Amino acid sequence: MSPPPPVTPEEARVVLVIGVIGSGTMGHGIAQVLAQAGYEARLCDVDERLVTDAIGKIRVSLDKGVLRGKIDRGTRDAALSRIKATTSLIEAVRDADLVIEAVPEKLELKREIFATMDRAAPERAILATNTSSLSVAAIAKVARDPSRVLGMHFFNPVPVMKLLEIVRHETTSDAATATARALGVAIGKEPIVVRDVAGFASSRLGIAIGLEAMRMAESGVATIPDIDKAMKLGYGHPMGPLELSDLVGLDVRLAIADYLEKEIGPSFKPPELLKRMVQEGKLGKKVGEGFYKWKDGKIQG
Ligand SMILES: NC(=O)c1ccc[n+]([C@@H]2O[C@H](COP(=O)([O-])OP(=O)(O)OC[C@H]3O[C@@H](n4cnc5c(N)ncnc54)[C@H](O)[C@@H]3O)[C@@H](O)[C@H]2O)c1
Repeated sequence: MSPPPPVTPEEARVVLVIGVIGSGTMGHGIAQVLAQAGYEARLCDVDERLVTDAIGKIRVSLDKGVLRGKIDRGTRDAALSRIKATTSLIEAVRDADLVIEAVPEKLELKREIFATMDRAAPERAILATNTSSLSVAAIAKVARDPSRVLGMHFFNPVPVMKLLEIVRHETTSDAATATARALGVAIGKEPIVVRDVAGFASSRLGIAIGLEAMRMAESGVATIPDIDKAMKLGYGHPMGPLELSDLVGLDVRLAIADYLEKEIGPSFKPPELLKRMVQEGKLGKKVGEGFYKWKDGKIQG
């Protein structure tokens, strides 16, 4: 891969308005950090209740920041005023300089959304996907100008995690890459530039540990908290792999594992336990139950 282009403000296109498509775990966090950094965010989801809930979560998160003395009330109110909620994809992208898609990890859904965005967003707009594993090139294929498409892979929880993985497919332009990097720096992230291979740098490693931990739980090697403790205390991970899977969402992890199994091989075959839990609706923190029971954002018991 050619070395990443240098980021200079002159090179990077001006980004003021950013559409965020999908207001779930990642989308609402992305909208929050963008608005806090002074960008106008257009947050879109499929129904009114979902976007209203997402704005509520952003408000709670900003309120916590105020309570902890990290931000003042003025900053919180200004950030909230910069987020416009909508259920119309076209409205969310119409005046955008950049769009970040964060809908579920399904290639066909993402392609459908990119095809609409490509028609409805201004020609200058960069189109980014927050996919954790899918081929950015396969998503970019539906765009008339694939050079404006790249991956902007944020980490969960978005306001806390510093890494931003910028994924270039073969024809992503240097200008789009430079703009995405400059934006990452402007919102306080540490961007890395990665080639478009399945699982990129981060998901492939993270999923490998997560799936192995599930197989260990399935075969009774140790209890769920003890498996997590092994990685926390033995390797200094801030969170165990099963707790992290709950945080990410078991449906999200299953989708990534299915894809990596297809692309890389059987070492990524999803364990039966994961499949069963997803079928039973035990999707992790977002629904209150996964490997752990969750209440008010914390593990119970
Ligand atoms: N959860 C994580 O920890 C994590 C981390 C990094 C990247 N990702 C990636 O981010 C993406 C989103 O994951 P998530 O965990 O936020 O999922 P999620 O299920 O929490 O949220 C997805 C949202 O997209 C909405 N949506 C579905 N179809 C839509 C459409 N046509 N238009 C607008 N909104 C639509 C859903 O209603 C939902 O609110 C996935 O590609 C995932 O792989 C997730």
